[in-house]
Amino acid sequence: MSGNSTHPRGGPPYVGRIPEILTGQKALVTGGSTGIGAACVRALAEAGADVAINYRSDPSSAESLAEDVRSLGRAAMTVQADVSSEEQVESMVSEAVDRLGTIDILVNNAGLQADAPFEEMTLDQWRRVIDVNLTGQFLCTRAVVREFKRRGVVPEVSCAAGKIINMSSVHDAIPWAGHVNYAASKGGVQMFTKSIAQELAPRKIRAIILSPGAIRTNINRPAWESQEAYDDLMKLVPLDRIGEPSDIGRVLVWLASDFSDYISGTTIYVDGGMMLYPGFAEGG
Ligand SMILES: NC(=O)c1ccc[n+]([C@@H]2O[C@H](COP(=O)([O-])OP(=O)(O)OC[C@H]3O[C@@H](n4cnc5c(N)ncnc54)[C@H](OP(=O)(O)O)[C@@H]3O)[C@@H](O)[C@H]2O)c1
Repeated sequence: MSGNSTHPRGGPPYVGRIPEILTGQKALVTGGSTGIGAACVRALAEAGADVAINYRSDPSSAESLAEDVRSLGRAAMTVQADVSSEEQVESMVSEAVDRLGTIDILVNNAGLQADAPFEEMTLDQWRRVIDVNLTGQFLCTRAVVREFKRRGVVPEVSCAAGKIINMSSVHDAIPWAGHVNYAASKGGVQMFTKSIAQELAPRKIRAIILSPGAIRTNINRPAWESQEAYDDLMKLVPLDRIGEPSDIGRVLVWLASDFSDYISGTTIYVDGGMMLYPGFAEGG
């Protein structure tokens, strides 16, 4: 299978149209110009939301995605910020609130890996991953929750005062040798999200962990680009296909909508069954 062809064995993903269940809502997506983040932006817009697209390094992809969103008839803006910088996050959130009017949905998607064998991992690699993947979610959530609380519930828009969806990974539960900084950051996302869900529930603010398995993006290109790597990867995926970013976007829309209003503080794995530990399928 070539890296560009899709689904050599597992069948195509569902491609039906996303219903307009987020009309009038405003979303901020961090790391929104590539991969899973871009798919979330597209899905939110298809569902009727206006979107602020945060990017770090590539304004042109962010702007071209914003044009796609506008072509669907939604408002879109792009905003540069490093999510690990308190000052940049504060200014990003206030710009998004000024330009969109408010924020109803926060998607903390920005993330990175900096892999190394444990004893060779530098403090800089450790800190960079924790700073972006975990502290970044803290900073963005804190700034947006202040807006959720200021505005409260607007019943015509949503029965919640705000929804926070934190992108984690199956590695918030499955240990990952050679990636201990990444696994620790995503494990941290679990307890961070559960704790804020508990604290904010009385204000009708929901917080949910969305944990993808193997999704076809740049972050894990070596794991799917060659036939051999893809075949190896499939030993871990019972549904026998790599996930596409749109697989995550569709679930995100449901989690951000009032259709999932009774869900908070839990983890939704979108992983083709990876959490089933398929190595045990034949006896263990
Ligand atoms: N693909 C998978 O299989 C998979 C599985 C589980 C979880 N995830 C999670 O899904 C999320 C998205 O990853 P992806 O697969 O879509 O990979 P990706 O295309 O590399 O996306 C990561 C995005 O985060 C942005 N980013 C990185 N550091 C940032 C910072 N300091 N401030 C703001 N934005 C920053 C990147 O922008 P720049 O390129 O400009 O740095 C990029 O747009 C990550 O949290 C990742 O851990 C992915």
